[in-house]
Amino acid sequence: MHGFASSILNTKTLHYLSEKTLFLSVPACIGQVCVKVFKSYVGNRNNKKGGSKSQACAEYFMTNLEFDKEHIWHPYTSMVNPLPVYEVESAHGCKLKLKDGRELIDGMSSWWAVIHGYNHPLLNNAITQQLGKMAHVMFGGLTHEPAVELARKLVKLTPEPLQKVFFSDSGSVSVEVAMKMALQYWSSKGEEKKVKFATVRSGYHGDTWHAMSVCDPETGMHNIFNGSLPIHYFADKPQVKFHEKWQEDDILSMKVLLKKHHSEIAAIIIEPIVQGAGGMRFYSPQYLKELRNLCDQYSVLLIADEIATGFGRSGELFACNYAGISPDILCLGKALTGGYMSFAATLATQDVATVISNGYPGVFMHGPTFMANPLACAVANASLDLLLSSNWQEKVKTIEGELISGLKPCSDLPNVSDVRCLGAIGVVELKEAVDMETIQKNFVEQGVWVRPFGKLVYVMPPYIISKEELRTLCKAIIEVVKNC
Ligand SMILES: Cc1ncc(COP(=O)(O)O)c(C=O)c1O
Repeated sequence: MHGFASSILNTKTLHYLSEKTLFLSVPACIGQVCVKVFKSYVGNRNNKKGGSKSQACAEYFMTNLEFDKEHIWHPYTSMVNPLPVYEVESAHGCKLKLKDGRELIDGMSSWWAVIHGYNHPLLNNAITQQLGKMAHVMFGGLTHEPAVELARKLVKLTPEPLQKVFFSDSGSVSVEVAMKMALQYWSSKGEEKKVKFATVRSGYHGDTWHAMSVCDPETGMHNIFNGSLPIHYFADKPQVKFHEKWQEDDILSMKVLLKKHHSEIAAIIIEPIVQGAGGMRFYSPQYLKELRNLCDQYSVLLIADEIATGFGRSGELFACNYAGISPDILCLGKALTGGYMSFAATLATQDVATVISNGYPGVFMHGPTFMANPLACAVANASLDLLLSSNWQEKVKTIEGELISGLKPCSDLPNVSDVRCLGAIGVVELKEAVDMETIQKNFVEQGVWVRPFGKLVYVMPPYIISKEELRTLCKAIIEVVKNC
């Protein structure tokens, strides 16, 4: 009987048919038999190992959450024993609406990206307008207005020496691009030994291969991929905090490293001021100043990874501005499109671009299929216009003030080791790692969306969040942390 049902309904193609189409095309009596058979499969599916064509039919009747659990990989998640996920039906402003009708205040900006909130009419309109012209066109041999306009804006907004823009698909890819630029730069100069990178511990630069190789060697993924990841140099992480008085020896470990290995090092890569996924730490701008000087002294390029910090999150448009320095290469992503699309840019100085272009093979060796995607460029242009025409600095300052006062009570909790805020970022560091499933459920029950990792409960809400929403968010954090 099961075989019969599956052969009639032609297995996996069912996923692509609507329920109506399916039963219009099958005689009613057979349809009813099929429903029974499939429902019995749904009931039994957890007892089965492996897949079968009949199982695929049964899966047609699974709810979205059931199918998701069975077939869709989520970030850093087991496919055998995944944590629960919540189905979002729509999102508007600072709220996520779940399929079950609950509304959550968003504390995450979808991982730093959605700075203007969800479903913004101006951003929606920018994409729709562009869609009417072209969704995509290859960038090899062709160019278009949205890309030119965006490059103009980025060159104008970023520090003056950054003049050349390379568009790519995601933050991690923009880091790969930056690292390749640094390697080609030194190779073009005939410095064939400069093939290593240096960075500080507690950093995070993405999940692609070379990006992983410069993430923190302990909290990153080095252990798992040990033996195949390239080995680079790691200095101690900066210890002097953002508001603390500078101490010369904070950069000593980096000084020693550079003195010894500069002839092998192509570039230093660092997240300016805010170390994100590697620990949510805020360090002294003086560290960056000193680092810039060391890079110049030892002929090493400086790559600033502003993928998380770019576009106002730290309180400055770019976190490098706190130190008044300019990198040789800059990576931007996340909030570049207001969180609408996966997109990134790597900017380089005239010197970097000229040296690469004058060396062998005379071109920069990278060219993604979706480079400078017009939809992404159009929405990025609209997002930048919106940001710059808004009083974003005031908004970020207000968020900072609310987070400082709203999260303060957490400092008195016995399970909390530190509370810190900078710009529109608030962090509550616990003494022990959280139990993700429980804490996630508790936050949702409090009506907020907060996604902790390890010992860190942190928020970086959209800039449009209201004071009232922020207060609810902070109260929910206190309540949940108190009970975890
Ligand atoms: C500082 C930093 N660099 C790079 C990345 C990687 O970006 P993506 O996830 O878009 O590849 C991230 C992502 O969290 C990041 O925070």
